[in-house]
Amino acid sequence: MTIEIRSLHDSFGAEVIGVDLSRPLDAEEFATVHRAHLDHGIILFRDQELTPAQHKAFSRRFGPPEIHVVSWYRLPDHPEIIVVSNKKGAEGKPLGLEDAGRYWHSDMSYLPTPALGSILYAVEVPPTGGATMFASMHAAFDALTPERKESLSKMRAVHHFGSRWYREKDKAGIRPPMTKEEEEKTPPVDHPIIRTHPENGRKSIYTGGFTMGVVGMAQDEALEFLDDLDAFMTQPQFVYTHEWRAGDVVFWDNRCTMHHATVYDAQKHTRHMHRTTIKGDKPF
Ligand code: OGA
Ligand code: MN
Repeated sequence: MTIEIRSLHDSFGAEVIGVDLSRPLDAEEFATVHRAHLDHGIILFRDQELTPAQHKAFSRRFGPPEIHVVSWYRLPDHPEIIVVSNKKGAEGKPLGLEDAGRYWHSDMSYLPTPALGSILYAVEVPPTGGATMFASMHAAFDALTPERKESLSKMRAVHHFGSRWYREKDKAGIRPPMTKEEEEKTPPVDHPIIRTHPENGRKSIYTGGFTMGVVGMAQDEALEFLDDLDAFMTQPQFVYTHEWRAGDVVFWDNRCTMHHATVYDAQKHTRHMHRTTIKGDKPF
């Protein structure tokens, strides 16, 4: 079957039609999907049905998995998969993280080598709400003035997982504290605010929900600076909102896009997703 690529938004995003991700892609299919991913930043596949093993196999074609630092929401027997869900198991124990990603962020930007991409598979979705917004950090970079490109290129931001975890914990009151081991594994790191994509050479503004400071800037000033940058990057012309259907698989590039989960009525409806994450490189 020939593969069709259909654009989702003016500046980024595409639907890839004619691929069954449950089967190994041949070399030509893989090359088309890989190209689409690099060209569009996020790619959508509809009507998929994936076992955890099939999901992991597709993910591995793009690189080794990055295991999430927080252990309790990994899928049992499949540590490469994290569960984003409001479902409860035995004794009311949550099966996954219900309030994942409700702020603009790029996955695992807090690691010395942040994630290349993430592949989120919608198993069950609510009839309304629970969309995911995506922003093109590359389109935002392109819209900067030459002076601002120049000044941001000299700056580095500090990324820290724990600061975000505790902020979300205070907000929704459903997250447990991190373990000491998890905290020790995620010290603050810094990355350039303008990063160059290692595969297509394009530049992006690389900040977001895990950035908690700017190197050499007073903390108050840095938080205001990062908030302003966030507001700039998430203007409507840079944002695509994905309304999920069960069976959707979205593969996003964390090196040039951010995303933001939105709320839904978790008392009435179920939203259950599986995510793999692919290891990336040190930003430059
Ligand atoms: C994620 C995430 C967003 C969502 O899985 O990385 O941020 O809408 N999820 O579930
Ligand atoms: Mn995320």
